[in-house]
Amino acid sequence: MKVLLVGGGGREHAIATSIAKSDKVDKLYCAPGNAGIAKVAECVPIGTMDFDALTKFALDNQIDLTVCSMDDPLCAGIVDAFEAKGLRIFGTPANAAIIEGSKAFSKDLMRKYDIPTAKYETFDDPLKALEYLETAKMPIVVKASGLALGKGVLICETLEDARDAVRELMMDKKFGDAGDSVVIEEFMTGREVSVLAFADGRHYKLMSSSQDHKRAGDGDTGLNTGGMGTFSPSPFYTDEVDAYCREHIYQKTMDAMAAEGRPFRGVLYFGLMLTDDGPKVLEYNTRFGDPETQVVLPRMKTDLVEVMEACIDGKLDEIDLQFEDNAAVCVVIASGGYPGSYEKGKEISGLEKFDGADGYYCFHAGTSFSPDGKVVTSGGRVLGVTAVGPTLKKARENAYTAAEWVTFDGAYMRHDIGKAIDAANVE
Ligand code: AMP
Ligand code: GLY
Repeated sequence: MKVLLVGGGGREHAIATSIAKSDKVDKLYCAPGNAGIAKVAECVPIGTMDFDALTKFALDNQIDLTVCSMDDPLCAGIVDAFEAKGLRIFGTPANAAIIEGSKAFSKDLMRKYDIPTAKYETFDDPLKALEYLETAKMPIVVKASGLALGKGVLICETLEDARDAVRELMMDKKFGDAGDSVVIEEFMTGREVSVLAFADGRHYKLMSSSQDHKRAGDGDTGLNTGGMGTFSPSPFYTDEVDAYCREHIYQKTMDAMAAEGRPFRGVLYFGLMLTDDGPKVLEYNTRFGDPETQVVLPRMKTDLVEVMEACIDGKLDEIDLQFEDNAAVCVVIASGGYPGSYEKGKEISGLEKFDGADGYYCFHAGTSFSPDGKVVTSGGRVLGVTAVGPTLKKARENAYTAAEWVTFDGAYMRHDIGKAIDAANVE
């Protein structure tokens, strides 16, 4: 079959790598792709929000399956646009993608259906939000309700910080319309775990757990980023935690969405915090995480395309989703200055060392070709170097070895991805 993947980041390179491995796939296109994806797919220069051009491409090229796992196009209705033209697409329809697109919606859903999450209030009026803060307990978390590239969450230690956060989001409109409404919620502490699930509207199947590292610097210092590295599985996601989440979170979320007339299909991402009062939902996303996907998919044994088709057809219960009994670690290599401003166009050397290196992956996140055909940097997060291993510690050692194989001017990475592994008392 012919498949079209929408996107061009590290997550998409990991998805493309798994799709290309499927026996079912004869031809893979990616719009717009990047210099790494170009090794496994034919890249076509169409933007991810240009639904007219994407559907036209799918029709003209007899695409059997389109795959999209990006928040903006999903929330804007890419699935609906494809289905209106009779095209098959894996992703979440807009009416269910709202679970990520509106934090006000997802918090109200959790309250209504008694799904454990931080206590909160929602505000559309900045003056009411400021008034509420006067008697609220600090620290507190102020979140833009809408999509803000993962940057619309402000953890405020003091009342003054919280007031500034409300002003920034609601009055200065730092993230545009995303701050029209804000969620102000209780600050929780605990370990974070990401759990991704495939969903077909009624059933869900869990992927192996993972953990992201959001801060830019070693020791979780510096600014929040899109994610500087991941490991999978999380040793903190024990059988006991899993049983609790299955009972109180996962199926309840699926049932709640169905009851609201918004059956969820696609990938449902549960951002969890393991608090002293049990696991609670930090956030939902309507897609594969980035860079969680870079450690989860290389460990998946089941054919990804088969699972995606089962999600579309409502037959996920017939799939036996299997993961390798191993571990993976991904170290992101970023442009100097990220997540602030950074230079682009730096030539990347050493990429060929990954050719034929079994168990090692160099997923491209922000790369392109220079006019003379060299692979150069084109984004903040440039590469995600993933390695698998029999244990988390071995996978981490392998990932840091391979992270030295590649470099470019100004490259930087965190040196402590997977530091939690040492605290977990596992291999
Ligand atoms: P979110 O996009 O809602 O997951 O928030 C991004 C990050 O902010 C999370 O991964 C947490 O590290 C942090 N965070 C969000 N909400 C809370 C909370 N209620 N308490 C503590 N940390 C939080
Ligand atoms: N890595 C966090 C996310 O994809 O939202």
